[in-house]
Amino acid sequence: MRIFALTGAGVSAESGLGTFRDKKDEGLWARFDPMALATPEAFARDPATVQAFYDARRRNLLGASPNGAHFALAQLEQELAARGGELTLVTQNIDDLHERAGSRIVIHMHGELLKARCLRCAAVAVWRDDLSPTSRCPSCRTAGRLRPHVVWFGEVPLHMEETLAALERADRFVAIGTSGSVYPAAGFVAQARRLGVTTCEINLEPSDNAALFDERRYGRASEAVAAWAEAILETT
Ligand code: OAD
Repeated sequence: MRIFALTGAGVSAESGLGTFRDKKDEGLWARFDPMALATPEAFARDPATVQAFYDARRRNLLGASPNGAHFALAQLEQELAARGGELTLVTQNIDDLHERAGSRIVIHMHGELLKARCLRCAAVAVWRDDLSPTSRCPSCRTAGRLRPHVVWFGEVPLHMEETLAALERADRFVAIGTSGSVYPAAGFVAQARRLGVTTCEINLEPSDNAALFDERRYGRASEAVAAWAEAILETT
């Protein structure tokens, strides 16, 4: 069996990393304006404010740990591989909790918080500290030209070719902990249906795309993902 799994902020919620949107208006984007913090224009206008926002998120991430949902997906990847199948994990999350739980193939379509990219030479480097105007690119040694290696609104998501190829060869599509409101990821379920792929949603509450899923499981990701993975392995 070949599974394409798309994860979003809900998969890391129980690890203490905030989500962006929820029905109670408590998500990050209800408290902060994404246009002032997550666009190339905002960074050009006020780099210090944008860097401070991502510095705070980076520090929070360094103190967080993977939860049961991350571990269940890592284990499923191994079990499917042992049976000749595959799990391709595509995440909108910029955290590294899937990797820390043991997942081997993780495609970060919105980039990675623990990396920085140089606006001068385009080199991408592992970056675990705060970013400041004095931070130097490890490749070209220029100061003040590093930005978080994340995708902002108005920018093109990363690894799209690889992602769409994995969707095309999948037998099953599962979306976990995502509100289904940001494209292109929000369009993957419709694409999966066009390809004849069985679709499943695992979320705390019905997402914007809930009607497009063949199967829907609602609950906390730490429990719901493990239950779903167990059911998958029983039929494989
Ligand atoms: P959202 O914050 O939009 O959606 C998170 C979803 O997770 C919501 O539907 C919640 O109900 C659900 N959720 C919350 N806690 C959960 C739990 N414990 N278990 C299961 N589900 C839970 O996050 P994304 O869909 O990932 O992009 O957001 C997509 C993109 O929008 C992000 O990558 C980010 C953001 O703006 C950029 O910054 C470019």
